[in-house]
Amino acid sequence: MNIKNIRNFSIIAHIDHGKSTIADRLIEYTGTLSKREMEAQVLDQMDLERERGITIKAQAVRLEYVGKDGETYQINLIDTPGHVDFTYEVSRSLAACEGALLVVDAAQGIEAQTLANVYLALEHNLEIIPVVNKIDLPSADPDKVKHEIEEVIGLDASEAVLASAKAGIGIKEILDAIVEKVPAPTGDENAPLSALIFDSHFDAYKGVIAYVRVMNGKIKPGMKLRMMVTNKEFEVTEVGIFRPALANIGELSTGEVGFVVGSIKNVKDVRVGDTITDALKPAKEPLPGYRGINPMVYCGLYPMDSSDYDNLKDALEKLQLNDASLLFEPETSIALGFGFRCGFLGLLHMDVIQERLEREYNLGLITTAPSVIYQVYKTNGEILKIDNPANLPPATEIDHIDEPYVKATVIVPNDFVGAVMELSQEKRGEFKDMKYLDVDRVMITYHIPLSEIIYDYFDRLKSSTRGYASLDYELTDYQTSILVKLDILLNGEPVDALSVIVHKDKAAYRGRQLAEKLKGIIPKQMFEIPIQAAIGNKVIARETVKAMRKDVLAKCYGGDISRKRKLLEKQKEGKKRMKSVGSVEIPQEAFMAILKID
Ligand code: GTP
Repeated sequence: MNIKNIRNFSIIAHIDHGKSTIADRLIEYTGTLSKREMEAQVLDQMDLERERGITIKAQAVRLEYVGKDGETYQINLIDTPGHVDFTYEVSRSLAACEGALLVVDAAQGIEAQTLANVYLALEHNLEIIPVVNKIDLPSADPDKVKHEIEEVIGLDASEAVLASAKAGIGIKEILDAIVEKVPAPTGDENAPLSALIFDSHFDAYKGVIAYVRVMNGKIKPGMKLRMMVTNKEFEVTEVGIFRPALANIGELSTGEVGFVVGSIKNVKDVRVGDTITDALKPAKEPLPGYRGINPMVYCGLYPMDSSDYDNLKDALEKLQLNDASLLFEPETSIALGFGFRCGFLGLLHMDVIQERLEREYNLGLITTAPSVIYQVYKTNGEILKIDNPANLPPATEIDHIDEPYVKATVIVPNDFVGAVMELSQEKRGEFKDMKYLDVDRVMITYHIPLSEIIYDYFDRLKSSTRGYASLDYELTDYQTSILVKLDILLNGEPVDALSVIVHKDKAAYRGRQLAEKLKGIIPKQMFEIPIQAAIGNKVIARETVKAMRKDVLAKCYGGDISRKRKLLEKQKEGKKRMKSVGSVEIPQEAFMAILKID
């Protein structure tokens, strides 16, 4: 295909504004898949994605479309994940494109992630085509949304496409706009190969499949290629395109999007953002913008049943094959035994992995409360990175602690400004800026500790704004805070997996609240269980779980053995979700209790 007839674009949108539905319609309209072949959401392949209705991994598909000029165009759609956890993947997908559809819900208007994604697209110099979607909704107000796009983003929205992905309105107009407005790729077919890796996945039969955009040169089977960051080399066995299923072709040429398969065993060798070049005739420099991804949120994952340790390890290894941003390493907890410390890009990433472990690998897990990475400066000059509160050195050895801060952007109707400010202030946020998007919607920016965001900021933001707020955040810096470790003792024994790092001013309050919460969560047992919250050696709160004998057999008649057994089994089931720590049984909920404190 002549490079002039290639168009590469992404769709950027806030969650639920209709990105996947539009992608489906484009695939359907161009006849890439027949109706019969269309699944409800072709691009969102994973079950979990479908259930939660969010896109996690970027995907790609090649469409063919005959433009108004009668010429056939090759249009590559690169899907982007819509969630804040996956910003880096969004950025790489955008780097593979020349244009982007900016999809905005006609009833909702611009939201926090719309803006975050638009800024990324502008950074990559993309041609942005505004699409106002869901115009079929009774509450749709396309003119207001167009006005917002012009005022807030500064884009000309006079030619915005008005669409309803649901009703199939505006789909041809979107395709025509892509052909007319998105620039064709540039690049030199005869130059040494450089191709950007924007995604990858592990296939049990083929091994690692790298998703690439060729910037210069060509890729053909038999070539020996090198990744310019990891320096790994491999021989190409297959190249092909996404229709959206993988389809082999003879070569991938400059400007095109497709996949490369070779002798690559591990997705870790195929880093998103890396540049592939010809090992025999390498490009001088890698493509710009590669950066490693660092997890921001850590938690401990422990098998409920300790004999499942190897299964958990196996499952994590398998998940990691497809998700290079998932980190894990063995960790031991006095309370929970052998498990893993796992690092995630954010809370959603963490939830998704936990759910997949439980669902796809049938593992019962105990998860500890999420933690950020603290930089701990010791009095002896040592600097530690602490991602597990239990590992914080004693206060006497600490000079000071720095914690990660983010810039949080919240968009809300102006009635809720007070509520957002109150919550953000309570969460140690520092007010930065407030801007009106239009007469009744406001964008508020705060500088706020990441640890407060991962506690319950988003949940509380949602509830205090009746679901109207949208949130986006990005890591900005580390700042010194006065932080202490809050320990929990059960029956006089510290339970390391329940320790948390909290701000000194909140420690006493959180300690009391946590002890009280735990009292409600830890089941009564045959003996009394004291619950203590302590900072260092100082106990700051105490509660007691009273003793009780829960005699389930008392209700049974004397001789009915099978009924007795049934009851005993039921009781055993109930216990499964608990972990015995010393002589005390602790339910999973207890480890998350800290997140449920106001
Ligand atoms: P993420 O994958 O989470 O980023 O969401 P998305 O932007 O891909 O949104 P998706 O396409 O899944 O659509 C979200 C919801 O809006 C779904 O329930 C769709 O059926 C609905 N929807 C999409 N387009 C339209 C439309 O034009 N009109 C109406 N009424 N509903 C729509």
